[in-house]
Amino acid sequence: MVDLHRQYLRLKPDVDRAMQQVLESTAFINGPQVKEFATNFANYLNIPYVIPCGNGTDALQIALMALDLRPGDEVIVPAFTYVAAAEVVALLGLIPVWVDVESETFNINPSLIEGAVSPRTKAIVAVHLFGQSCDMEPILRIASQNNLYVIEDNAQSVGAVYTFSDGTKKKTGTMGHIGTTSFFPSKPLACYGDGGAIMTSDSYWAERLRMIASHGQQIKYHHKIVGCNSRLDTLQAAVLNVKLPHLDAFNEARRQVATRYDEALGGNPLWTIPERRPYSTHVYHQYTLRVKDGKRDELQAYLKEQGIPSMIYYPLPLQKQEAFYGFVRKGSSLHVAEQLTKEVLSLPIHTEMTEAEIDFIIDKMNRFTGK
Ligand SMILES: Cc1ncc(COP(=O)(O)O)c(C=O)c1O
Repeated sequence: MVDLHRQYLRLKPDVDRAMQQVLESTAFINGPQVKEFATNFANYLNIPYVIPCGNGTDALQIALMALDLRPGDEVIVPAFTYVAAAEVVALLGLIPVWVDVESETFNINPSLIEGAVSPRTKAIVAVHLFGQSCDMEPILRIASQNNLYVIEDNAQSVGAVYTFSDGTKKKTGTMGHIGTTSFFPSKPLACYGDGGAIMTSDSYWAERLRMIASHGQQIKYHHKIVGCNSRLDTLQAAVLNVKLPHLDAFNEARRQVATRYDEALGGNPLWTIPERRPYSTHVYHQYTLRVKDGKRDELQAYLKEQGIPSMIYYPLPLQKQEAFYGFVRKGSSLHVAEQLTKEVLSLPIHTEMTEAEIDFIIDKMNRFTGK
């Protein structure tokens, strides 16, 4: 699905040098590269505070811990997404409230959020799935009207830009109270192991988030609140410092692959190509089709025979995951999430794809439908 090795070879001299420097310094924890990366990433996002942490799931957990919610408080999460947001909600004794997504963008459907709000609702987690921003303007409006916090899970969409109706542009992860991301190796901005970060524009949240990620302390061995231990390794920060200047070019490279797919696969009655919405740029962390007529699994098996990898992100909606059987609060009908899990198929897309590879995939896809 992604070719990490080819990308590494492209960056090898810089990555090797950066990692070697860390090895020589032996400052493996909280070395200067971590702070440097936080500053670089904050500048990239045009936001004052970035708090690096251990991974994207920790980032969500720390963000939710910072809100100081009470057990039984409700948090709205999309029903069709990666498990992390719902998992940390449940882990903290909070109640995930499932809201359906839009079939065209796979993101939470803003028009269904208001109906899911109860007196116990305290926050919304907006997950920018597959590379495109959720429609943040209505989400922020509903949140403000109902006094809710907004957390943006930006693990899959770093670098995407949202345009508000007055023309203001903001990068995903910087619009809500707190943004989170993951630097898992296949993500748009990725390191060579686990890594994550939390973003905010507010000094109050920044201080709390930093404290929670560091055992609830500001002064060493003085623990003000209950926190956890979540740090970005210096080696990973060094890799990220090399990769960040390439992020926009990497996103553009995937966008070009997506454009080729769009041109060649669009209009086929067997599947629907992913929709680009005018309010967001798309960084195509995934290129996800919706395959009709119950043919998704057959198409996937056929692609496998042709040597083409494909993935089903995600095979079950969250309300159907065994771990969440106990959490029955549905904020809306969830039929789109349910339907998507039967139709979605993601094709290979990455920064190093050659024309020949794209042509091969397109040719095989079209042959499947007799084109
Ligand atoms: C949308 C989303 N949120 C959170 C995560 C969790 O990130 P991590 O694997 O770094 O904990 C992922 C990653 O896999 C993700 O795709």
